[in-house]
Amino acid sequence: ASKSVKLNTGAEMPTVGLGTWKSKPGEVEHAVEFALRNGYTHIDTATAYSNEKEVGAGIAASGVKRESIFLTTKLDNPDHKEAPEALERSLEALGTSYLDLWLMHWPAYMTKGEPSRADKSHDWIDTWKYMEKLYKAHPDKLRAIGVSNVSVEFMERLLAVATVIPAVNQIELHPSCTQEDIVELCAAKGIVVTAYSPLGSDNSPLLTNEVVTKIAAKYDVQPANVLISLQANKPNVTVLPKSVTNARILSNAKLIDLTEEEIKELQAIDKTAHFRACHPDWTGWGSLGFPDCKDADE
Ligand code: A2P
Repeated sequence: ASKSVKLNTGAEMPTVGLGTWKSKPGEVEHAVEFALRNGYTHIDTATAYSNEKEVGAGIAASGVKRESIFLTTKLDNPDHKEAPEALERSLEALGTSYLDLWLMHWPAYMTKGEPSRADKSHDWIDTWKYMEKLYKAHPDKLRAIGVSNVSVEFMERLLAVATVIPAVNQIELHPSCTQEDIVELCAAKGIVVTAYSPLGSDNSPLLTNEVVTKIAAKYDVQPANVLISLQANKPNVTVLPKSVTNARILSNAKLIDLTEEEIKELQAIDKTAHFRACHPDWTGWGSLGFPDCKDADE
């Protein structure tokens, strides 16, 4: 069997999953179908990506049994006050009766409509309490719940009141955004970390970074394989390379073992070339406890 990590629920989460952030309708159905037909068993989507329906179509088209797939989606920021309805909408769009993992996409409630604005009258901790309630009441629909984009400061606040420890915290993770503090806290609490944008997202400078290309040449693999393997080799981490390109989807599933020295060298890139690929409008949200996220209003 391919590599997987055990969640605090006892379930196995396949280490490499297909990411679908920025995968457009019209591309993503094929990507999901192709990935599932070629050995992927883990697909990640979100209501906010506006592609759940197409992801569901790709799963159906693949002919792979639902039980053989680990499927994750996320509660959108404007849906924090209507978690049960949002869950039903996601299940319907994906064409499934259950999720392997349902994440709170951001610890930040936003208003509906355009422009969507921060609304601090609703505490995201209360959203987690709704999610716990749903998880306890509907084990047939939710096999695990977790969070995304949660910093150390926010995780400490959550853990102080949670009756269900999140199974996963999905965060941006690559050599230019290593976030070692939250990775360590999650490891200590038995929370699996899922790395999104492991390549650094679109047009990433990491693909031509000289440390990355030097290691790729040594193992005769693509820079992407080095970046994906860096995450996959961490004991409590799973990783979501996004691609809509057949050859890359195939290639990205190939993991290599890196030496301690190489891991250190890669993790050190952050010190001189830090960046975050995911820049939502932080206005009104504050930094969410991430030291490198500034709020334009503050
Ligand atoms: P595409 O989807 O057009 O194939 P991340 O996973 O960090 O979010 O990065 C996704 C970006 O990296 C997308 O632009 C994707 O392009 C591209 N990408 C995915 N796999 C590879 C690869 N093996 N080599 C180079 N670029 C890749």
